[in-house]
Amino acid sequence: MNRRDFLIVAGAAALTPHIAFASTQTQLMAQPVRAQILPEGHPATAMLGFNGGTPGPVLKMQQGGMFDIRFMNRLDEDSAIHWHGLRTDNAMDGVPGLTQEVVKPGAEFAYRFHAPDAGTFWYHSHNRSLEQVAKGLYGPLIVEESAPPDVDHDLVVMIDDWRMTEAGTLADDFDNMHDQAHDGRLGNYARALVEPVKQVQRGDRVRLRLINVATDRIFPVIIEGADGMVVALDGMPLPNPRPMSDLVLAPAQRADIIADVTSSDHLAFIFQTREGSYLLGEIPMDGENAVRVPSQVPALVPNAVAQPDMDKAVSLTLSMEGGAMSRRMMRGMMGRRDAIWAFNGQSGVTDRPFHRFARGQTARIKLINDTRFPHGIHLHGHHFFEIGAGDTPGDFRDTTLVEAGGTREIACVFDNPGKWLLHCHMLGHQAAGMKTWVDVI
Ligand code: C2O
Ligand code: CU
Repeated sequence: MNRRDFLIVAGAAALTPHIAFASTQTQLMAQPVRAQILPEGHPATAMLGFNGGTPGPVLKMQQGGMFDIRFMNRLDEDSAIHWHGLRTDNAMDGVPGLTQEVVKPGAEFAYRFHAPDAGTFWYHSHNRSLEQVAKGLYGPLIVEESAPPDVDHDLVVMIDDWRMTEAGTLADDFDNMHDQAHDGRLGNYARALVEPVKQVQRGDRVRLRLINVATDRIFPVIIEGADGMVVALDGMPLPNPRPMSDLVLAPAQRADIIADVTSSDHLAFIFQTREGSYLLGEIPMDGENAVRVPSQVPALVPNAVAQPDMDKAVSLTLSMEGGAMSRRMMRGMMGRRDAIWAFNGQSGVTDRPFHRFARGQTARIKLINDTRFPHGIHLHGHHFFEIGAGDTPGDFRDTTLVEAGGTREIACVFDNPGKWLLHCHMLGHQAAGMKTWVDVI
């Protein structure tokens, strides 16, 4: 396989991110940090992080438990934290201007919320998120099953890309309108940040919790050195585990994989593009474990999910518009950076929601991508079904990737009251107007 280091940086030293474990009553302190983004030997990079590093600590909770997180803003800018994928209380959703005020420098906010679903989630800044997430304000959030699957290692793998300068600093070009009108702010250096682990051996069974935390890049991922199945997407168990070939993670999407290690020297994450393949990261290996015989991967225990009432569903259309080479651009609508993209002709969050739902109502929404770029559409506070062939509810996700020129139908039971953001999770697009909200009353 033709492997290159991702674009600008030579050398293949494993990244050693700061990953720590937090206790139940957790303090999450946002602050400037220095992090070894580039391989050892290169200078550390000025970033933003939590509790001294980026990514922030792995926040863990038993299903049904209550998170109690004291968020302390020690940045010199406003912030707020969103718990991505958690179907929880609106007041705790962390969206400034919609669910709370910004948390000022030096101020604090007490986030208390339930963890109704077991699975792989994450948290990130939701204030000027293009910039704050790019600078490192994110971390994993894991809700454990009461009967977890039988594995030897349970590992978080966060995939990110950074736009680095030759001097080893993070590029400061967050206002670049060209980026935002195209694929967003893509990095030039990518890594898989693997939770530190000891003694992974051939024959071991691993659970890998992949999270794409990049602001804008879609990652097709290949896993080498292990054989297994995808058991969950966006935190929600698949009724039938499926092969891990063709695994694609749009920004914010997650995939849980249960796999048996088949190699004694090599368990690697590969970013596969048409131009080549890049090593994102490796898990260090430590010999053989002859004890375990590979067996079938069982499905995870499902979370409690309301079934959509397709007969009574209200039908809606959400049309994605704008960006480079669009009619919107031709009409000169793109002089304003926050109006490069639109849903149904409207850019940004206004007083008028995309729709107001009576609590419990099912909607089927046709997502029409009338642009030259793919978009990963994320709904807060709910998961939704991607409608599959024969009109049947398919994968249950919180972020769905709609190809350029493509259409996807989703069905959602709007059963969580409050004001919920609905936006493209390519954060460069979100910053440039691709967001709206829904009201559930
Ligand atoms: Cu990952 Cu609006 O969020
Ligand atoms: Cu987008």
